[in-house]
Amino acid sequence: MRNVLITGGAGFIGSNFVYYLLGVEPGANLVTLDALTYAGSLENLRDLPDVGRHAFVQGDICDQPLVEDVIRSRQIDTIVHFAAETHVDRSIYGPGQFVRTNVLGTFSLLEAARKVWMEEQQLGDATSQQVRFHHVSTDEVYGSLGPQEPPFTETNLYAPSSPYAASKAASDHLVRAYGHTYGLPYTITNCSNNYGPYQFPEKLIPLMISNALEGRPLPVYGDGGQIRDWLYVEDHCDAIWRVLRHANPGETYNIGGGNQPTNLSVVQTLCEILDECRPDAPFTPHRSLVIFVADRPGHDRRYAMDITKIQRDLGWQPRHTLVAGLRKTVEWYLAHAQWVEAIRKEQDYQGWLVRNYNQR
Ligand code: NAD
Ligand code: DAU
Repeated sequence: MRNVLITGGAGFIGSNFVYYLLGVEPGANLVTLDALTYAGSLENLRDLPDVGRHAFVQGDICDQPLVEDVIRSRQIDTIVHFAAETHVDRSIYGPGQFVRTNVLGTFSLLEAARKVWMEEQQLGDATSQQVRFHHVSTDEVYGSLGPQEPPFTETNLYAPSSPYAASKAASDHLVRAYGHTYGLPYTITNCSNNYGPYQFPEKLIPLMISNALEGRPLPVYGDGGQIRDWLYVEDHCDAIWRVLRHANPGETYNIGGGNQPTNLSVVQTLCEILDECRPDAPFTPHRSLVIFVADRPGHDRRYAMDITKIQRDLGWQPRHTLVAGLRKTVEWYLAHAQWVEAIRKEQDYQGWLVRNYNQR
C-alpha cells in the first residue's frame, strides 16, 4: 500500500476513507480520482490533515486512457473503488447512468488495471500481494429478506431488485471474472447502509436531519416498516482497511452494523436526538413533522448482514452503536450547517426534491 488510488474519494464514504487512510497509513500516498458529479465535492476533502500525501484528479472512471495514465504515472499498487451512482431512487428514474458508471466504469477501471499491471508483470498470480483491486459493494446485491430469514452471508445467491442493485451486482461479477481469468488480485466487500459525516443530504438520515432543522415534512416511504442494517461510516472505513491489510486476494466479506431497526424508528430516534439538541426549536417535538408518502417502486423490505466471517478472519466489528452513531451524525450536521446549506440551495438538489417528492 504505497500508492493508493481511491475512486469516488470526493463522495461520502470515499472522502471518509481518505481521512481514515491518511491517519492509519503514514507511509502511503493517496490519489483521489473523482468526476465530481452532483454527489461529489472538493469541500468534502477540505480539512485533510496531510495534504502533501494526497493528490486530486478530476476525471471519469469510464475514461480508460485517463485511468491508465493515473495508474502508470503514479505507480499505483492499490485501487480502492468507491466511484458509483448510488441512490436507489435516482436509479428508478434514470437507470442508464447507473449502468454506465457502475458497470462500464468498473469495466474500464479493471481494463486499465489489467493493462498497466500486466505490463509491469504484476498479473497472473491472483494470490499475489504486490497489487490489489478492492471493490466496494453493497448488501443490496442479495435482494430482500423475509421477516424470518437469516441475515445474508457471503454465499447467498445474488438477487438484486433495483437498477442500482443490479448494476452493482454486475460490477461484482466483473471483478471476480478478472480475478478468475486474468489473475487480478482482488477483494470485495458488501456493506449495509452507511451514515455519518459528508453524506449527501438526499439519503434518508441526512435528509431527515436537514428537513427537520428547517421544519419541513419528514417523508417516510410506505408504512415505514422497511428494515435496514445501519453502519457508522468510520466503522466501514476500518473494515475496508483491515481487508486491504490482512485479507487474502479473492476473498469477499460482508460488513454490517448488527442492528435492524425499521425506517420509522430511525426517523423517530433522530427526532428525539434533535429535540434534545434543539429544545427551543419551533418544530419540537420534531416527530410531528413525520408524514407517510407513496412507497418506492420495488422497495426491498429487509436487509441484514451476517458479519461472522470478517469478525472471525480479521477481528473486525462495529465500534459504534446505532444511537451513538446517530448522535455523532446529528452533531456533525449541526456543526456543518454551511456545508448542508450550500448543497440544499443548488438547483439540481431543489429539482431532485420536486421530482421525487412533489408527485408522490
Ligand atoms: P456517493 O454517491 O456519496 O459518492 C459517489 C462518488 O463517486 C462521488 O464523489 C461522485 O462524484 C463519484 N463518481 C460518480 N460517478 C463517477 C465517475 N463516472 N467517475 C468518477 N467518479 C464518479 O456514494 P457513497 O454513498 O459514498 O458510496 C460509495 C460506494 O460505496 C459506492 O460504490 C456504493 O455502491 C458503495 N456502498 C454505499 C453504501 C451507502 O450506504 N452509502 C453502502 C454500501 C456500499
Ligand atoms: O444497503 C446499502 C445501500 O444503502 C447502498 O448500497 C446505497 O448506495 C445507499 O444509498 C443505501 O440505499 P437505501 O435505498 O437503503 O438508502 P436510502 O437512504 O435512500 O433509504 C434508506 C431507507 O429509507 C429505504 O428503505 C428508503 C427509505 N426512505 C428514503 C428516503 C430518501 C424513506 O422512507 N424516505 C426517504 O425520503
